Amino acid sequence: MADKIALITGITGQDGSYLAELLIQKGYTVHGIVRRTSNLLRSRIEHLRRDENIYGKRLFLSYGDLSDSTTLRRIFRDVRPSEVYHLAGQSHVGLSFEIPESTCDEAGMATLRLLEIARDQPEPLRFYHASTSEIFGSATESPQNENTPLRPSSPYGCAKAFATQLARVYRQAYGLFVCNGILYNHESPRRGENFVTRKITQSVARIARGLDAGLTLGNLESRRDWGRAQDYVVAMWMMLQHETPDDYVVATGEAHSVRDFVEAAFAVVDLPWEKYVKHDPAFDRPAEPKQLVGDASKIHKMLGWKPTGTFDQLVREMVEADLTALDKSR
Ligand code: NAP
Ligand code: GDD
Repeated sequence: MADKIALITGITGQDGSYLAELLIQKGYTVHGIVRRTSNLLRSRIEHLRRDENIYGKRLFLSYGDLSDSTTLRRIFRDVRPSEVYHLAGQSHVGLSFEIPESTCDEAGMATLRLLEIARDQPEPLRFYHASTSEIFGSATESPQNENTPLRPSSPYGCAKAFATQLARVYRQAYGLFVCNGILYNHESPRRGENFVTRKITQSVARIARGLDAGLTLGNLESRRDWGRAQDYVVAMWMMLQHETPDDYVVATGEAHSVRDFVEAAFAVVDLPWEKYVKHDPAFDRPAEPKQLVGDASKIHKMLGWKPTGTFDQLVREMVEADLTALDKSR
């Protein structure tokens, strides 16, 4: 295991940070691609960067952007990864309606760039593509599985559907070891602050401490299949360890509404949610899947993966983490 080299795009994101921890713990040398930002603080991996037993020894970072194929190619040449986890890109579905062109470039075309680079490597490598339940969009069946037709309903979903199909084509046409992880929503205390779960838990913490008066949200009735991000990065790794490449749905199989999430989050701090939550149409989307719920029986059967914990435990973990972070900062 000691000679395994992983390259992660999107290492500073929620999933990239947990995946880097997992791979380092498994003995990998991990290389991450980071983009130039005006603020050097990369909060989700800062603890790894400050650890002198890790940074510069087991973890290395290189500057690169998904639009910059010459740099991406040079990084592959220098790093010579045995496993590539491609997680980077604009990941907010609602925002993809506001910035469709850059979203489609990052979620779609960039995957093509990386697959082309992977195809040209002198040694075969294994490639993970971060696909999503959003490719099913207004799905014709529920729960969805690996054979459900693609019917994306957002620019983000369309771009990911394109990339997912391309990954399949590269696997079939060139024999590349490439897996699509069709992941349903997964959350954690590291979730980006403008995704609904984290927006709710951060706001609940602030309301509980008397710092905010209320919370405005969009559609409370949409239903999602919410799991724990820490479990989902294990699924990514398992896919690349199997002898043959394939596509897998990763999900809990349970759907909850945004309203259920709100209720559970306010219950943690013992406050009545109806008093604080207001609807703001600014957060409604032009179109979106009403209900996404996944059938993860294939990955359970083939790789032995299954999710841990309950929905209520996930909500509690996120609210408590936000309360702790808030109390530390004051
Ligand atoms: P995230 O927290 O939004 O992280 C996205 C990562 O991509 C960050 O590291 C970001 O860097 C990087 N990035 C964005 N644009 C880039 C560019 N042009 N060049 C280089 N890096 C760029 O996303 P996540 O929740 O970890 O999700 C990881 C992947 O899985 C994404 O592709 C997402 O679409 C997909 N996915 C997520 C879920 C989910 O529920 N979380 C479900 C299914 C699929 P900065 O830190 O500099 O912004
Ligand atoms: N973000 C947000 N903000 N969503 C809201 C809000 C709000 O104020 N109010 C209601 N919602 C609803 C959205 O309309 C959507 O139906 C649901 O909450 C979940 O929204 P997000 O948390 O933004 O996640 P998402 O499901 O659109 O996308 C996430 O999961 C996908 C996998 O299914 C992202 O992580 C994607 O990158 C990922 O592919």
